[in-house]
Amino acid sequence: MDSVPISPSKVQGNARELRHYLNLLRKRWPVIATVLIVSLAVSFVVTIRQPKIYEATCSLVIESSAPQVLEGVKEVIEMAAATREFYTTQYRIIRSHEIAERVIDRLGLASDPSYFGAIVASKQPNRDLMVDRLLERVKVVGVRESRIANIQVRDVDPERATRIANAFADMYIERNLDFKLEGARSAGTWLGEQTVDLRKRLEDSEMELYRFRKERNLLDVNLDDKQGMTRQNLQSLNTKMTDVKARRIEIESIRKLILGAKNDINERESLPEIRDNPVVQKLRENYLDLLKIKADLESRYGDKHPKIETIQHQLIAVQRDYAKELDNVLRAFDKRYEALVETENSLAKWMSHEKQQALELAKLETEYRPLARDAENNGKVYSLINQRQKEINLTGMLKANNVRFLDRASQPRMPISPILSFNLSVGFLVGLIFGLLLVFAIESMDNTVKSPEAAEELIGAPLLGLIPMLSQSKQHLIADAPERDLAVFNDPTSLAAEACRSIRTNMMFIAAQKEFSLFSVTSPGPQDGKTTVAINIAVTMAQAGGRILLIDTDMRKPRIHKSFRLKAEKGISSVMAGDLPLKDAICKSDVPNLDVLPCGPMPPNPAELLHTERFRKILSECRASYDRVILDSPPIGPVTDPAIIGSVTDGVVLVLRAGHTTREAAQYARRQLGDAGARILGLVVNQTDRKGRGYGYGYGYYTPYGKYYRATS
Ligand SMILES: Nc1ncnc2c1ncn2[C@@H]1O[C@H](COP(=O)(O)OP(=O)(O)OP(=O)(O)O)[C@@H](O)[C@H]1O
Ligand SMILES: [Mg+2]
Repeated sequence: MDSVPISPSKVQGNARELRHYLNLLRKRWPVIATVLIVSLAVSFVVTIRQPKIYEATCSLVIESSAPQVLEGVKEVIEMAAATREFYTTQYRIIRSHEIAERVIDRLGLASDPSYFGAIVASKQPNRDLMVDRLLERVKVVGVRESRIANIQVRDVDPERATRIANAFADMYIERNLDFKLEGARSAGTWLGEQTVDLRKRLEDSEMELYRFRKERNLLDVNLDDKQGMTRQNLQSLNTKMTDVKARRIEIESIRKLILGAKNDINERESLPEIRDNPVVQKLRENYLDLLKIKADLESRYGDKHPKIETIQHQLIAVQRDYAKELDNVLRAFDKRYEALVETENSLAKWMSHEKQQALELAKLETEYRPLARDAENNGKVYSLINQRQKEINLTGMLKANNVRFLDRASQPRMPISPILSFNLSVGFLVGLIFGLLLVFAIESMDNTVKSPEAAEELIGAPLLGLIPMLSQSKQHLIADAPERDLAVFNDPTSLAAEACRSIRTNMMFIAAQKEFSLFSVTSPGPQDGKTTVAINIAVTMAQAGGRILLIDTDMRKPRIHKSFRLKAEKGISSVMAGDLPLKDAICKSDVPNLDVLPCGPMPPNPAELLHTERFRKILSECRASYDRVILDSPPIGPVTDPAIIGSVTDGVVLVLRAGHTTREAAQYARRQLGDAGARILGLVVNQTDRKGRGYGYGYGYYTPYGKYYRATS
């Protein structure tokens, strides 16, 4: 970051401001101190008078759910998860009207006038008001990151606070349990009513189902079984039927073949059914054997042999048997065929019967199913509800609670309020703030000239010096005390003497710049210290050597003669009236080198006298015989005299009274003097505080201004 150069003037400005505030605090510290003391005293008294309040605290552990005693058995009222909302709700419940009322009843607070005061004393005690009053003194605070809640109760009686805190916890625990039991009870009642109803419904539906089964002969057999059986029957009938049908067709075709080959023995013999017949085979073998024998005989004896004839007969007999046997086979096939047809027919009949049966069963099912389903559902609901009811009855018997005490409240020994140190600190702070505000308020209302810089700026003339408060011993508090007037003479080592010497030095520089030996002293208002300053500057100048004349031209309120213990009969007024030559009017003073020209008898028209040529003449005479002539004059505000005097002198020293002369008055003085053509030589600020700090008129300013004059000269 670039550093911003701080201009020296800015630093000086800040320093000046800081000094201004420090001076302000130094000057006005009594205001701050007074406000502070008052504020501390008030805090102290208030603290002492405040009743002592005690706070009892008991701690609860609030779990989100009760310990599960029976596995699988749910609570009727299940607590929410341990969320922030859950705990906020619980804290609110603890501070609920219901709990508060229970506490009031349990502890008998309603009849305790020391607790509820006027509420109890009234004829019809307002319970809501009591509850509100009680709850005002109860606070529930959750411990962060834990399940612990603290119940804090405040009361003037520590023992009662303890009882109330514990009662709140007890009532909350009790209510929690009641709430659960109540929930279980009402759920149980409701479920009880439901079971009665459901049982009735279940019985009805079961009855109906029974009746139906009885009517339809389904009592001993299940409909499903019956349907299964029919289905199975049909299936086996079907296979059997197919089988029979196949066999019939086979036999039918064989029979057809046999019938077809009836007249052709060879063809017949080729049929496997005939060929494989053992009787036929036997006959055939016999036939063939006979044929062989016959051929053999014929070859041996010729065909006329008698044995051949026999054989011939035998052959015919075998052939006959053979034909007979073939017929038998055929007939046997016919029989088998007929039997198969018969079987097929009866199977078909049976099947159609079974099918009919199946149809009927299907029809029956459409009626049976809803009834059965009804009964089944009713049974399920009934057993569910029954089960839950039993569970609820069980949980009702279980007194498992999710809230328990961590610590019961114990009687507090120290009050939590009022805390003296805290109240005093607050009092101190408030006092300080008010004090500062007051100081700033006073300061902002104060329109006096506040600093030498401001005075110089306002008047447009340099500061000659600051005169501190002269000795403040009681005797010196007397108005116009001559001791004060001659303070510099009487005590040349004093701060005031030093201040006057500084003024003298500064004036020397101005004098060196421009010739002036005759100057007047004035101020914007009365009692600013014109006379005091004039006398003391005159004394200081006289002490430096050279002849000094001090003239009292304040013809309204002359008092220089008093300061030098002179007679009031003669003075400048008598010289102006021509009653006396100047030198006779001038008096010697106790101060070496200092002569004094008192005012003399007070003239009725001072302003007119000062305008006269005679006055100017007197002044030039004085100027001729003295090194420096100093004129005291009245204040500028009320009269025009000082402006007239200023216009006939080389310059005017304007006295401002620290903390008294307002800006307006100073400006007015400047204008008046300027208008009259008087020149302001410089300013003297009178009556700064003893250390010269008041309003920033610090003595520190002497040296810089001295330097300033030296530099400019
Ligand atoms: N620096 C000072 N310290 C203490 N008291 C002072 C100081 N300057 C003047 N006084 C006192 O203030 C009172 C008024 O002073 P002084 O008469 O000099 O003022 P003034 O401007 O001449 O008044 P007036 O307008 O009446 O002529 C006197 O009692 C004087 O002793
Ligand atoms: Mg005076």
